[in-house]
Amino acid sequence: MKDILILGIETSCDETAAAIVKNGRHILSNVINSQISIHQQFGGVVPEVASRKHIENIAGVVDMAFKEAGLEYSDIDAVAVANAPGLVGALLVGVSFAKGFAYAIDKPLIAVNHLQGHIYANFLEHENISFPAICLVVSGGHTSLLYMKSRGDLKLIGETRDDAAGEAFDKVARFLGLGYPGGPAIQKAAQNGLAGRYKLPRVFMDRNNYEFSFSGLKTAAMNLWRKSEKQGDANISDLAAEFQEALVEVLVDKTVRAGLEYKVNTLLMAGGVAANQKLRNMLKKRAEETGLQLYFPALQLCTDNAAMIAGDAHYYYINEQFAPLTLNAHPGLWSL
Ligand code: KG4
Ligand code: ZN
Repeated sequence: MKDILILGIETSCDETAAAIVKNGRHILSNVINSQISIHQQFGGVVPEVASRKHIENIAGVVDMAFKEAGLEYSDIDAVAVANAPGLVGALLVGVSFAKGFAYAIDKPLIAVNHLQGHIYANFLEHENISFPAICLVVSGGHTSLLYMKSRGDLKLIGETRDDAAGEAFDKVARFLGLGYPGGPAIQKAAQNGLAGRYKLPRVFMDRNNYEFSFSGLKTAAMNLWRKSEKQGDANISDLAAEFQEALVEVLVDKTVRAGLEYKVNTLLMAGGVAANQKLRNMLKKRAEETGLQLYFPALQLCTDNAAMIAGDAHYYYINEQFAPLTLNAHPGLWSL
């Protein structure tokens, strides 16, 4: 059978990314131009700046993806783009470029949901993932638990009522002066600290449902920090360790409980926060204890990238689910 080569484009936030994936599994190139150093000076992503940088970088990033893969434009079979959810101005750059590119090379266009892309990063690397599965999606904008009956059949069983896990990491890190992005910064600070010296709540909400809330934990961490600064015994590493542990414990608890209640064999994890080492270790340990098979992507495939978009698009391609050239960007669409 002929190989299917798909170009993926991802511009939903602050990474301009392009990748070429063969047959939904083999990454031939995966180029990520991160704007982190630009947004760092503002303490977070500035949407207008992100859009402008995407415009400057997109053509070069796509060219690089072809160069790294050793391919010509005409070698690919389709152009896939993340069109939702994300920053609308940022998404629009990718969508507009993808439409123009697909038209110019006369190849079909495929629209991919960014969050679904995160989930399918698991399938790029792991063969024979068995269903049904419970999937924890933890990113800068989302914290959701999904029941997956099969690869394409997902049902939302719970999500955050306020801040997303990544958002809480980012806001607490900014408050503590640890910089952006907050997740890696808190993880690093926590390495030299000890959880338990500060005491933060584990916010389970109702233990019998799969809803999350991180806004209260974030405020508690900030208040505790102000108090200990006044007392003169502030230790940023200890606070980072306790905050990380309080947040991760809740994610792990609810994910494993969902796995047991829904009687699945498999747990999946996806999104930028899935790169967190504490979360990876703790969930791995609990999964082993409870006999659940756990998968998460390699670190570079947890955070935003285009290989996950090109990989997911393979299944749209074989089902001939193509997008029209009138495709638009949707900032808030969680369409499953
Ligand atoms: O998936 P992603 O790259 O972009 C979105 O779709 O939002 O996720 C970005 C989020 C940020 O909030 C960032 O702080 C968090 O993922 N993140 C982490 C780690 N690496 C990235 N959070 C905790 N620990 C990490 N190592
Ligand atoms: Zn993302």
